[in-house]
Amino acid sequence: MSREACARAHTDIALVKYWGKRDEALFLPTNGSLSLTLDGLFSTTRVRFEPGLAADVYVRDGQPRAGDEAAKASRFLDLVRAQAGITDRAHIDTRNDVPTAAGLASSASGFAALAAAGAWAAGLELTPEALSALARRGSGSATRSIFGGFAEWQRGTRADGADSHGVGLAGPDHWDVRMIVSVLSSAPKDFSSRDGMKLTQQTSPFYPGWLATVERDLAVCRAAIASRDLEALGEAAEASAMKMHGCMLGARPPFTYFQPATIAVMHAVWDLRRQGVPAWMTIDAGPNVKVLTSPEAQATVEATLRAVAGVEDLIACAPGPAVHRLAPDEAAALLGA
Ligand code: PMV
Repeated sequence: MSREACARAHTDIALVKYWGKRDEALFLPTNGSLSLTLDGLFSTTRVRFEPGLAADVYVRDGQPRAGDEAAKASRFLDLVRAQAGITDRAHIDTRNDVPTAAGLASSASGFAALAAAGAWAAGLELTPEALSALARRGSGSATRSIFGGFAEWQRGTRADGADSHGVGLAGPDHWDVRMIVSVLSSAPKDFSSRDGMKLTQQTSPFYPGWLATVERDLAVCRAAIASRDLEALGEAAEASAMKMHGCMLGARPPFTYFQPATIAVMHAVWDLRRQGVPAWMTIDAGPNVKVLTSPEAQATVEATLRAVAGVEDLIACAPGPAVHRLAPDEAAALLGA
């Protein structure tokens, strides 16, 4: 008998960034991070364990895929199989409603959905925290996508990583904010976050300075979320992102994810603030700029961003839900039988 489950996880965007590992194999971070899960960007994944199947089959967006991406999914399911004490291979069907590998953190929603679907199909009953620790082994940012609304990935101190997982800070209904994602280029990035953070950590003289301020940024953001203080949250989030990118400029060799249009959007956001519009930006391992704002200011921010040369698309998001199960017929309608 085959066992299957389908999960949908939404992408999260870090407000306090994760940048650097203290254990590469276990994906243990050098610092804690904090994020907002978005309603508009998500991955849907179904895992079906089938006795007698010779190898895992990986299908994304209707196309069977081999290579690195399929191998990563397979290696990840090995962790699930080990935890559940099963050996069956699986059909993995996944669909990304996120422009893949453009710095929109498709790995966050992708591994959160794979972790949940795999664990549920294997019959593992995990708490959200344990599911988050599992998702961590696929991608660090996935720890936070298990949760809806605002979440923190706690650094943890244990060598085995059991205490390095996400925790929910406030659900999606706590506070209605907006994150406007400006898509500047959906071309796959040429320098992964994994390689980028490693080089920064090993060579940038700014890295220790950035690390030294993370705890304070986390405390400011936690308090700002609790009191719904957009200015405090926005300022801390923008500073965290800028510090992270500043570290990269100090790496040897130096590198950046910024494109000319990234800088143009940056100035547009600062212009908006000078006019009294509440808007703060954050940028990940890609050129796109995500702008945090209020529902009231959303239209003004969108009109300004749309007018910036190089902005291809805007995706306006509100706080999104935690990872959740899709019924088999809903999964079949989306992913095929
Ligand atoms: O977990 P990864 O490999 O997708 O790395 C995420 C790195 C950043 O997006 C830049 C920061 C973060 O905290 O999500």
